Amino acid sequence: MTIIDGKKTAAEIKKEIAAEVNEIENKGGRAPHLAAILVGHDGGSETYVANKVKACGECGFRSSLIRFEDDVTEERLLEEIKRLNEDDGVDGFIVQLPLPKHIDEQRVIRAIDPDKDVDGFHPVNVGKMSIGLPGFVSATPAGIIELLRRYGVETKGKHAVVLGRSNIVGKPMATLLMQKANPGNCTVTVCHSATPNIKEICREADIIVAALGVPGFVTEDMVRPGATVIDVGTTRVPDATRKSGWRLRGDVDFDNVAEKCAFITPVPGGVGPMTICSLMMNTLKAYKG
Ligand code: GUN
Repeated sequence: MTIIDGKKTAAEIKKEIAAEVNEIENKGGRAPHLAAILVGHDGGSETYVANKVKACGECGFRSSLIRFEDDVTEERLLEEIKRLNEDDGVDGFIVQLPLPKHIDEQRVIRAIDPDKDVDGFHPVNVGKMSIGLPGFVSATPAGIIELLRRYGVETKGKHAVVLGRSNIVGKPMATLLMQKANPGNCTVTVCHSATPNIKEICREADIIVAALGVPGFVTEDMVRPGATVIDVGTTRVPDATRKSGWRLRGDVDFDNVAEKCAFITPVPGGVGPMTICSLMMNTLKAYKG
């Protein structure tokens, strides 16, 4: 059994990016620039955005954090997006989700210039991915593909089961795994809250990508020996032994599942660090145009 070390892989990739940025600057070019819009003070979003800003520093990127309070109007947000779209000094930007209820998330996403949409959430980028054209791919599935590539996980002809159908993870993950590419070329089954026989389907899987947000959902009896298990879950669960009072728990019952697997990602330190790394790769790509 191999534990896929996302933290180590992400650190290696960030080093590779930093070396490339250094070379660009040595030749007189400017550093890539990522901007992030953060609305409100949600604990999870604050942490994610802080980590994105930190990763920019590690890659030698410039970063800008633009903050709004919870009561910001949709019009004001759209105005800021227009400004970023038109700012030649900004290569890519993200609007951290979720947004407050009074704001139409899809309208906000559609306002982003697809060429600056380093999250890969704009329908143009989703469409390009689905027909195999170059564009920006959502960071979490892109990071998982990179892990499969770097660890040499065989995917061709395998049965991949994706648990969850979110626009950010489940759907793009299924699309990428079925793509005629390497990694890819899988036969893909997507399971969700209305799937009656998830356990049986998982038992048939060579690769399981768990992105449900249900801690410990994938148990030992659902995993075939030699399977590859990728855990996207990052739920905060109470933990009195921690100073914070919580810890992150994945969708996989790691302690009991790990020994059956060929490859498995831990939580934390698996998919999470790669997600931010993909955003950095997308930003470099946006810079290069
Ligand atoms: N909220 C949770 N994940 C993400 C992400 O990858 N990008 C943005 N913008 N918001 C998120």
